Amino acid sequence: MKGIILHGGLGTRLRPLTYAGPKQLIPVANKPISQYVLEDLLSSGIRDVAIVLGETFPELVREHYGDGSKFNAKISYIYQGKPLGIAHAVGLCREFVGESKFAVYLGDNLLQSGINQYVKEFLSGDYDAYILLKEVKDPTRFGVAKFDEYGKLIGLVEKPMKPPSKYAVIGVYFFTPLIFPIIEKLKPSWRGEYEITDAISALIEKGYKVGYSIIEGWWIDTGKKDDILQVNALILDERINRKITGEITNSKVEGRVEIGEGTKIANSIIRGPAIIGRNCLIEKSYIGPYTSIGNEAKIQNSSIEYSIIMEGAQIENVERLEESLIGRKAKIKRAEGRKIIRLHIGDYSEVEIT
Ligand code: TTP
Repeated sequence: MKGIILHGGLGTRLRPLTYAGPKQLIPVANKPISQYVLEDLLSSGIRDVAIVLGETFPELVREHYGDGSKFNAKISYIYQGKPLGIAHAVGLCREFVGESKFAVYLGDNLLQSGINQYVKEFLSGDYDAYILLKEVKDPTRFGVAKFDEYGKLIGLVEKPMKPPSKYAVIGVYFFTPLIFPIIEKLKPSWRGEYEITDAISALIEKGYKVGYSIIEGWWIDTGKKDDILQVNALILDERINRKITGEITNSKVEGRVEIGEGTKIANSIIRGPAIIGRNCLIEKSYIGPYTSIGNEAKIQNSSIEYSIIMEGAQIENVERLEESLIGRKAKIKRAEGRKIIRLHIGDYSEVEIT
């Protein structure tokens, strides 16, 4: 069994961060989102992985994952360039896949309980393809499953005005090489993309055996800022344990908090679940629950909660920073006692002063 991680797309909803790198490399609990995806594939026994690259800084993806050896994986790269659709991206992997069965995992999707059990189901049944579904409140935003009266999957509809069920197709798919000739014959959809849902529907129409599971636990498609903050909170909550290696002076560190080497914390309160990377400086500050702070960040005389502060960012004299996603080396400083706001921010940045 082989694996494919989709690392392309434009990430327009995550600008300006995606002007500096692909959205799948945005850190959640100080680790890129797509690294959770790779780890999920690895823990399901899939080591031979292709990463499909888009136009947004593909070199950063290669730099992070290399040949995969430091993750105990074998990684190859396939260049997609323009995001012509998920089916297009999969179609480029024909040679990589060869005769294997394979999993396709969108590099920005995270599942609470991982894919291990579904890999087993796909491999043990005689399936031509296998998909994962999740009940959602607003199916009109997703590819949606259509069933007959016996619960048999009879088709998929992309972003339907009138959803045939409340079950959305999530971003993990299992295929055999049978999918490739079908992808070759696809036509672009109304939104100009080669849709994987069309390819799967065609498999069903041709009478191939397409199985499905309705997944338990959370699934998050990290397309927007709020999704990323939510998944950051969930991962901190479920996967961070207390581990403190920094230097703590005159401070309180409560609950499940991870603090990296070389970090100095002085006259501050840190309340978990939270993670603080290496070589940070936290002074006269409050770091509240569900906060991730990247390496080399500097936080002084500020309070932060439910946020991601990336590597090398600096925050000074900011009374309450909440629900924020702050990019690498960004600076937020307030002169004490002054009310003037001076900004130097990139295109598509968002500042909310409440
Ligand atoms: P989307 O979130 O649908 O697309 P996007 O990344 O361009 O985001 P936005 O709408 O904000 O511009 O993509 C889902 C996932 O699939 C994501 O991980 C990117 C990946 N993808 C590709 O790798 N190639 C493609 O052609 C497409 C459409 C998506």
